[in-house]
Amino acid sequence: MTTIPIGLTTNQAPFIEQARGQGRTFIDQPYELYSEENQRTWRRLYARIRPPWRKYANRTFLAGVENLALDPDAIPRLQDVNHFLAPLTGFDARAVSGYVPAYVFFDCLRQRAFPTTITIRNGTSLDYLPEPDIFHDIAGHVPMHTDKAFADCLVRFGEFARESARHVQGIADEHERLTRMESIIRALARFFWFTVEFGLMRQGTQVKAYGSGLLSSFGEIEHAIDSPLVQRYPIQLEWVINQGFEIDHYQPLLFIVESFEHLFELVNTLEKWLKEGRLDNVAPGEPVVNERDLKSFLEAGGIS
Ligand SMILES: [Fe+2]
Repeated sequence: MTTIPIGLTTNQAPFIEQARGQGRTFIDQPYELYSEENQRTWRRLYARIRPPWRKYANRTFLAGVENLALDPDAIPRLQDVNHFLAPLTGFDARAVSGYVPAYVFFDCLRQRAFPTTITIRNGTSLDYLPEPDIFHDIAGHVPMHTDKAFADCLVRFGEFARESARHVQGIADEHERLTRMESIIRALARFFWFTVEFGLMRQGTQVKAYGSGLLSSFGEIEHAIDSPLVQRYPIQLEWVINQGFEIDHYQPLLFIVESFEHLFELVNTLEKWLKEGRLDNVAPGEPVVNERDLKSFLEAGGIS
């Protein structure tokens, strides 16, 4: 009987479990642990996404894929990715053991580091995955980070997070402080979701995908752009921050930005609204801000 190496499969990797057990968020990428099955999964995912990329991905992303010299046949080594990425925008992909508290995640962006999952989904279910994996993070997110204007937007998200942690510090009443922080994080999470994860952008007379949840999904990228079941609107900030979303099915509602300069301006407006108190009472509902995320923001603001 032969033993099948467990490899670095999402939710099944002892290496990751051990790192989490030891409380280590930032880790190395033990490349030798990838099994042949893991490599095969990467090859299959990469091969089938390329035709939809050519049709539906925005041109910045396609240029990014070229610039990173991603290997269709092998799971990327983060150090190789960073070798091409860092000179372009100063960003680097940093391996993590899994879930990163929201504030830590955004503060990494501020410092031009992208927390990157190193496990890969189980090859028996290529399509549905509630959590990120290396295909989503490297093939979906990182090519966007090669573009200066987009990279600056991510940094701006990080600065916004820091500003919002400071913003609630001065609120004496604890209940009020928690309520406001939760509302602000919800606004930020929704904005991030409808832009960086599922954003659409105008490109000439067409609409293209720049959101990484779309760019890493073989089924959804086409659906997002061609399906009559999807409502697509020019982005409106007051709508986005009050719009809940669900993660377990294709998105029925998407928002279009004009450019990355437009996106950058929207983060500026978000920060202005933060200071004016316009994020203090966004519509309740999903996503529920979890306790770890709330705590991470309060700690960053000096309160916990
Ligand atoms: Fe993502």
